[in-house]
Amino acid sequence: MTNHPVNEQLTKAQVINRYLKPKLAVKESADAFASSNIALCKYWGKRNGELNLPVNSSISISLGHLGSHTHISLSDTNEDQVRLNNQALALDSSFSKKVLNFVNLFRRDQKIPLIIDTRNNIPTAAGLASSASGFAALMLALNDFFDLQLDKTVLSAFSRMGSGSASRSIYSGFVRWNMGVDEDGMDSCATQLETQWPTFCIGLIKVSTTQKPVDSRTGMNRTIETSHLYNSWPQQAAEDLTSIESAIFSQDIEQLGACAEKNAMSMHATMISAWPPLVYWLPESLAVMHKVWQLREAGVSVYITMDAGPNIKLLFEEQQLSVLEAEFSTMEVVRPFAK
Ligand code: PMV
Repeated sequence: MTNHPVNEQLTKAQVINRYLKPKLAVKESADAFASSNIALCKYWGKRNGELNLPVNSSISISLGHLGSHTHISLSDTNEDQVRLNNQALALDSSFSKKVLNFVNLFRRDQKIPLIIDTRNNIPTAAGLASSASGFAALMLALNDFFDLQLDKTVLSAFSRMGSGSASRSIYSGFVRWNMGVDEDGMDSCATQLETQWPTFCIGLIKVSTTQKPVDSRTGMNRTIETSHLYNSWPQQAAEDLTSIESAIFSQDIEQLGACAEKNAMSMHATMISAWPPLVYWLPESLAVMHKVWQLREAGVSVYITMDAGPNIKLLFEEQQLSVLEAEFSTMEVVRPFAK
């Protein structure tokens, strides 16, 4: 925990400015892509809300070709333009504000009107959040556009300031975000686990795509402030992280799946015990969970993870694919290591 009262905390701009050259170079345009990611050991709780420094380290699997493309170019008008999935957005929309606040950390006070064009290829039907890939792709595009020449760990730490989970989207495959201890958070960044697991599959099951009633920032804060179960979370997450990491290296789906499922359920237990309660599950989420548990009873090696929303992600290996596709007809399958 930081010992500084909020008004003495370092700001994002103060941390970022240390890494920027005094004079900004500007290209005509830049393009970047970042994959979305699903946490196997979840990030839940901030020890510093300004810099998005987490209470615990986390591990994710990246979603390969599913993610965000960002294109930055010079605007020929005097104003910025923000586009999302081929639609121009009002500059006072919440998406535009988030994007431009982040861009301004790098553009600083220079008058360089930009077009920021984001395209998500995450199927809306999968009901996945795109803020992780969105901020990572934006950071990679800014790095190129302003010729910042930042290395990957710095890009990961800066993406984290846009959205915590974006720190992991700078990399692909299995990724570990170390919580770090430094006051400026520059050691709170991700690294890629040097391993491949070709048969590993993720099944995305949409339950609802409507916007969640409580966003993750609010949810985390409410949980920390009001849930008595949250006290046990940091210790549990640390133990789960070790177990999940070793299961990844030994390609042990039972150990990985059981631990990831327990971790997700524990995170949800802290939310449910918050006040007012945070229950992201819908009746349909529970129906899918029960079906998965029945399948497991019947010998199918399949496990569940869920984020701050009602949609379910299944974790399994290729040999279970046909039986799971028959059970869940709308499931979208991602194979992060498929050639
Ligand atoms: O990065 P954020 O602020 O959208 O928070 C993500 C929180 C979870 O998705 C619930 C967990 C995680 O580690 O991705």
